[in-house]
Amino acid sequence: MDPKGQRVKLNDGHFIPVLGFGTFAPPEVPKSEALEVTKFAIEVGFRHIDSAHLYQNEEQVGQAIRSKIADGTVKREDVFYTSKLWSTSLRPELVRPALEKSLNNLQLDYVDLYIIHFPVALKPGEALFPKDENGKPIFDSVDLCRTWEALEKCKDAGLTKSIGVSNFNHKQLEKILNKPRLKYKPVCNQVECHPYLNQSKLLDFCKSHDIVLVAYGALGSQRLKEWVNPNLPFLLEDPVLSAIAKKHKQTPAVVALRYQIQRGVVVLAKSYNKKRIKENIQVFDFELTPEDMKAIDGLNSSIRYNELLLGVGHPEYPFFEEY
Ligand SMILES: NC(=O)c1ccc[n+]([C@@H]2O[C@H](COP(=O)([O-])OP(=O)(O)OC[C@H]3O[C@@H](n4cnc5c(N)ncnc54)[C@H](OP(=O)(O)O)[C@@H]3O)[C@@H](O)[C@H]2O)c1
Repeated sequence: MDPKGQRVKLNDGHFIPVLGFGTFAPPEVPKSEALEVTKFAIEVGFRHIDSAHLYQNEEQVGQAIRSKIADGTVKREDVFYTSKLWSTSLRPELVRPALEKSLNNLQLDYVDLYIIHFPVALKPGEALFPKDENGKPIFDSVDLCRTWEALEKCKDAGLTKSIGVSNFNHKQLEKILNKPRLKYKPVCNQVECHPYLNQSKLLDFCKSHDIVLVAYGALGSQRLKEWVNPNLPFLLEDPVLSAIAKKHKQTPAVVALRYQIQRGVVVLAKSYNKKRIKENIQVFDFELTPEDMKAIDGLNSSIRYNELLLGVGHPEYPFFEEY
């Protein structure tokens, strides 16, 4: 098999490629770039594409996937596409319409994976971040088990092959796993994960339940001003990662990606730069030694770039739990 297509089996029998292309870019980046970079990522070998309703680029990402199918580069079944249910649509009756909206933007018949983006429910409506007159987020109250049942129905209807969650802590995962009449377990939990926040406890928990951990922010996140404390250290400037990279004639970025794959984590890499998109595929060209892995494990320091502070104050805010 082409190593670039390396995949792992999900608990529902489908397969997910271990390296995914992250498509989120801040609003000031023209949407047309999402089209160009997604096409390029598929051309160089990415077979797993990650997006979301929130990113407001599903039209372009869908167009990129369809154009690479049309020109014969890939077949639909070769591409694994993830979309996410945004927080303003967590009420069960809003789940299917939200997925149908994504499919309509994508112009695809199904997605491979549909995940709850963030367990904090926000007031339904057009605004992605509904705020009151004081600028405070307007929360909604939704039982996530009911949301989950609506996702199960979307899978049964064939609108998505697999269903999962994102930004859930282990207690929230347990709530779904222990739900009476659970039909499908989450196949994955997509969370921030990198050498400074290696999520080892959550990873062990996920592995023990046959749930795949998908890493975002694996390169140290995009450090967007509105979301990330600028005083936090730059992951890709870490001396330990740099020394290991030098030894393997690779870059710290590729080492950070390889680290995840070797510990059984599916990893996303966002880049809107062609040179770096191509570089990230080199993750399949080398192997870290057990000593390298141990040294990278030693970097763990509970640094979370994306605290998603807008959710603080909601009972489902996930990051006050240890894991
Ligand atoms: N579920 C969630 O709540 C959630 C949250 C955040 C992200 N995500 C998903 O995860 C994806 C990845 O996470 P992320 O967006 O935080 O970014 P990331 O993958 O950690 O990447 C961070 C930055 O690294 C740079 N980069 C990429 N390859 C590089 C290389 N080889 N050398 C040096 N720098 C490199 C990129 O800049 P350039 O573009 O300039 O190359 C990028 O902005 C997102 O795009 C999105 O799909 C999900």
